[in-house]
Amino acid sequence: MVAPRLRSFRSEDEDACYEICLRTADDGGDASRLHHDPRIVGEVWVGPYLRLFPEFALVVEDEDGVGGYVVGAADTDRFDERAEREWYPPLRRRYPRGHFPAGTRDAALVDLIHAPPRTPREIVETHPAHLHIDLLPRLQRRGFGRKLMGAFLARVRAAGAGTVHLGCSPSNANAIAFYRHLGFEDLLAGAVWGRSTDFAGSAPESPFGA
Ligand SMILES: CC(C)(COP(=O)(O)OP(=O)(O)OC[C@H]1O[C@@H](n2cnc3c(N)ncnc32)[C@H](O)[C@@H]1OP(=O)(O)O)[C@@H](O)C(=O)NCCC(=O)NCCS
Repeated sequence: MVAPRLRSFRSEDEDACYEICLRTADDGGDASRLHHDPRIVGEVWVGPYLRLFPEFALVVEDEDGVGGYVVGAADTDRFDERAEREWYPPLRRRYPRGHFPAGTRDAALVDLIHAPPRTPREIVETHPAHLHIDLLPRLQRRGFGRKLMGAFLARVRAAGAGTVHLGCSPSNANAIAFYRHLGFEDLLAGAVWGRSTDFAGSAPESPFGA
């Protein structure tokens, strides 16, 4: 039995990260039955980070493979610019509007591909970094979320970001309890949360904590 460990993302982890994204996309639970296309959730919520800002991405791996990740960017404006220029154009050709039946979750993702999610300007100005964090059930509630968060915050802090925000469904009670417990404050009706990147145990020189 090999103990799970954190490490930096590698390009061969991409498929596992897409799978984790899908399996945690229903308010933290498995959304695979809700999507006809198993890749489309990841194309919006993890793909651009892994491709454009892999230096901030970390994963947790155990003997069954990669089972959790944190992705994000130190500068949300820069992320949005690069995603618009480099990530979305080919996706828009692959997923034209109307590609899936109206009213389906896949169609809602196509809408996001054509009009990507944006955080309100005043939040990006006060909290320039942002992140997404997801772990499969087998790795939840074992301290890896805290470790991933600490390691990610150390990385964006080293890149110059003093504060961070994240988006969360207000109905994802477990994630909100986790964020609150880690010192995040509600910035927008339970849907956007923020805090300093100065996180105990996340000094840049020891990103993986104790
Ligand atoms: C939310 C999530 C990232 C938390 O990661 P985790 O590894 O389960 O959390 P940890 O075990 O590292 O918990 C860290 C701390 O938060 C607390 N915590 C975690 N979940 C909690 C909950 N539901 N209620 C209360 N406290 C909670 C832990 O008790 C722990 O406290 P401690 O470090 O002071 O002892 C993870 O459960 C997950 O990926 N869930 C499914 C996907 C998801 O919802 N992602 C977020 C989308 S916005």
